[in-house]
This record gives sequence, structure tokens and C-alpha cells, in this order.
Amino acid sequence: MELKCKTGELANHKTPCLIIGIFEKRRLTEAAERIDTASNGRLSALLKKGDLNGEIGQTLLLYELPGIAAERLLLLGLGKRNEFTRANYRQALGAVALVLQQSGAESATLTLPDPLPRGLDLYTAARDAVLMIEDKCYRYTRTKSEDKQAPKHPLKRLNLWIEKRSEIPNAERALRHAQAMAEGIRLARELGNLPGNLCTPTYLAEQAQALSEHCPRLSVEVLDEGQMQALGMNALLSVARGSRQPPKLIIAHYRGAAAESRPLALVGKGLTFDAGGISLKQAAEMDEMKFDMAGGAAVLGALRAACLLDLPLDLIGVIPATENLPDGAANKPGDIVTSLSGQTIEILNTDAEGRLILADALTYCERFNPETVLDLATLTGACVIALGKHPAGLFTSDDRLANELIAAGEATWDRVWRLPLWEDYQEQLNSNFADMANVGGREAGAITAACFLARFAKKYRWAHLDIAGIAWLSGKEKGATGRPVALLTHWLLMRAGSL
Ligand code: BES
Ligand code: MN
Ligand code: ZN
Repeated sequence: MELKCKTGELANHKTPCLIIGIFEKRRLTEAAERIDTASNGRLSALLKKGDLNGEIGQTLLLYELPGIAAERLLLLGLGKRNEFTRANYRQALGAVALVLQQSGAESATLTLPDPLPRGLDLYTAARDAVLMIEDKCYRYTRTKSEDKQAPKHPLKRLNLWIEKRSEIPNAERALRHAQAMAEGIRLARELGNLPGNLCTPTYLAEQAQALSEHCPRLSVEVLDEGQMQALGMNALLSVARGSRQPPKLIIAHYRGAAAESRPLALVGKGLTFDAGGISLKQAAEMDEMKFDMAGGAAVLGALRAACLLDLPLDLIGVIPATENLPDGAANKPGDIVTSLSGQTIEILNTDAEGRLILADALTYCERFNPETVLDLATLTGACVIALGKHPAGLFTSDDRLANELIAAGEATWDRVWRLPLWEDYQEQLNSNFADMANVGGREAGAITAACFLARFAKKYRWAHLDIAGIAWLSGKEKGATGRPVALLTHWLLMRAGSL
């Protein structure tokens, strides 16, 4: 979508559709006041007819209002003026997107509500608007022969109306950031939605390589099974043994800072299909395990955003990619493997495979002497039970890093919630036969999974995001969300000093 800032005399602004907010009980926003005056009170007269009261998400299209240059006026309910929250604002934006997609307007101008939602600055309000509208306008079509509900006039251009000329640089910065985030999110969603027979480890590696072709600062290296064997990545390879798809270790290096600066590293679980292995999952909803590569997809999305923003930092993306299937050669409960770190692991449940491939990927990161490593993984069903679909689970023993990630999550509404990573839980991973077991029993499943990873991330500052609950939606809206690309991009912007 093309994004621009506009300013000037609102009534004279030529656009196929001008969007203005109305609070409950027909209270006008600043922009609505302006339109009302220019149309000689026509707007308030129409509102008196009672078609729109201003409840959150209510919409009403008006055509050819006298004195107004816009072809259409889209009135948008914002709810109670003194209870105007960011959540209400976002809900209203969602409604706007749906109306725009069904209207004949391919270009629209959104006036930011005045007053803004409580506690929200212009930069964040502008970015929320773009990300929300982009989110609702996304459609998956790759594997459909015909997109029957495709909008006849999809939205191609979105303008933001900025009242104060002095605020334009800030708004333009928000649009630039939002655009990069939206592109990263789109990439992550496309990859997530693609089925397991098409989105294989090899395909993911090709996509990483394709990304680097459009970004001179990005170089991609892919390790194959033989190379991983030579290194001793046996935990990762043990998972891949049950699959006919060759595993890949995708390593992407974005160089935007001086060579001597220590890089940040993002590690993403790239399990392109998780049937559970010999500890086979139940049939119901097993199709959703094609989304088990969402962490890897988010790494690629964040790299894409970093490229678009030319971020001045050094960033490594590492994606261990494989399938987890039952097979004669697959891991068996009780099998013991020696990880790249040298630590041995007793595989009590072959469905706890994410931590096995991440363990080796985390050890692999040591060679980059990273300043911080952040891993993203659809790691546990337990995290979904604990937190549901709103926040990701955040685990780290570093309070400063935790606070950075919490702040990045708040800023993008791509939120996280911190859970404990106490030593007390470690004993649940004790094994009589190896250095550790790969599962820690029924209690605190998301935490013991994080505790397992912590044993492979001792050499650097590290945080883990369990994104099992947030990476996709189920039911009627089934599909990848592209989370947490927005959070990651915001965190990178923070680290690059670009905010
Ligand atoms: N990819 C799954 C986690 C998952 C399950 C995410 C359901 C979203 C929805 C992971 O590989 C897994 O199977 N984890 C097991 C761990 C258990 C065996 C300790 C789980 O959560 O059941
Ligand atoms: Mn699993
Ligand atoms: Zn999995």
C-alpha cells in the first residue's frame, strides 16, 4: 500500500474517501467540526437523523456533501469521548478497513482522531492505523485457483491527514516504520499460511536467499545435513531423521554497522510440519502444525524490515529448519543424543522437538560473539493454556532485556508477558541416563521448556519468546498473524537508536 501524509484545508482535500471520527452521542472530532462548518452544518444535520450515534466501529458512508471536495465521507464511530482508549481506536480502525475494502474507493485519507486515544502519541497512532488497516486488508490467495471474495477495488493508497505542519516529519517517520513492519508481517504470514508440502525446509532456505537478492546488506548461508553432521548438531539432526525432507540451517547476516560491533541474533524455530514424531499428536487440528515454523518466518520478516529501514546495526538470523514426523529412522522415546554443546539429552517425548533444534541453533550462535540473542518459537501448548492468544510468553533472567522487549511489545501492541525462569524449575529436567531430559513433566510446561533452552544460552545475554499462542489464529479466522514481527522491528529500531 502506498502511504503519504497530507495537510492543508480539509474541506478542499480531493480524495475518493475521507474518514472522520465521531464520538458517542454524535460528538464531533476536530476534523468532523471542520467538515460540518464547511458543509454549512450539513454533517450535524445528517447525524441528527440517527443513522450513526458514534458507537465503536459504527460506520456510515456519505456521498457528495456540499462544500466538501472528498467524493465520499466515511464517518467512523469512536465510542465515548472520555473513554477513548487505544483498544477502542484499534477496533474502529478494523471496521474502517472492512468498509474500504468493500467500497469503490482505492484511495482514502484518514484523519487522525482529535483528541487522540488516552496516552497515545501521534507517531504510535499513525503506525497503529497503518498496521491495523494493512492487517485487515491482507488476503491469502497463493493456493486458491480463484479468490471469490476478492475486493473489486482493493485499497491501494492510504493518506494520513496531519493537522499541524510541524508534525509531518514525525508522521512520515511513523509511516516509513509501519510500511517496513507491514512488509515483514506480510512475508511472515505468507510463509506461515503456505502448507507443509510446499513450505519445506528447502523452500524456507530459498526464501531467505531470495530476500538477500533484494538487500545488498544481507547475505545468506545455508548448511545442509552433511555440514551439520560435521559440526555435531546431533540434537537437530535427530529430529530430521524421521523426515524425507532434508533439514537446513539457515544463517542470514545483515551488515548495517561497523564490522567490529557485536551483532544481535534472532533465532527462529523453523519446524515446517510437526506431527509429533513417534509421540504422535492427535489428528484434530494437526494441520495447524504447518504454522510451527512461525518463529523462523518472523526472523525473515524482521530481516526484511531491517533491510527496508536500512537499520544501522549488525544482525544475524538463524533458522533451524526441519520436519518432525514418525518413521522407522525417527527419534524414539528414551533415545539419547549428544548436542552441539556436548551436553547429552534423553528424548522422553519426541514431540518436544522444538527445544532440540533450538538447542543446537543457540550453541551455533556462540561463534558470532553476539551482544544479545533472542529466540522465537511456537514451543509449547502449555504457553497457550497459560496466556491464550494475546501475549507471547517472555523468558529471560536479564531484567533490562525483559523491559526492552515488554516496551517494544506495548509500543506495537504486539505484547508479551514475562514468566519466571527460576533455577527451581531446572530439576524437573533431571534424567537418570543423560545430562537432561527433553521434557519436565506436566507442571509449568512453558517454563521448563524455557529452562531447557537456557542450558544452551549461557554464553550471552538471551531471551526466549514462546509464540505458540500468538503466531496464528484458529477456527474461522485460521491463518498466520505475522506476529511478533512488529515487536522485533520495534526492538531493532530501539537498538539502532532510530526512535
Ligand atoms: N509445536 C508444538 C507446540 C504447540 C502445540 C504449539 C500446540 C501450538 C499449539 C511443540 O513442538 C510441542 O509439540 N510441544 C509439546 C511439548 C510437550 C511434549 C512437553 C506440547 O506442548 O505438547
Ligand atoms: Mn512438537
Ligand atoms: Zn513443534
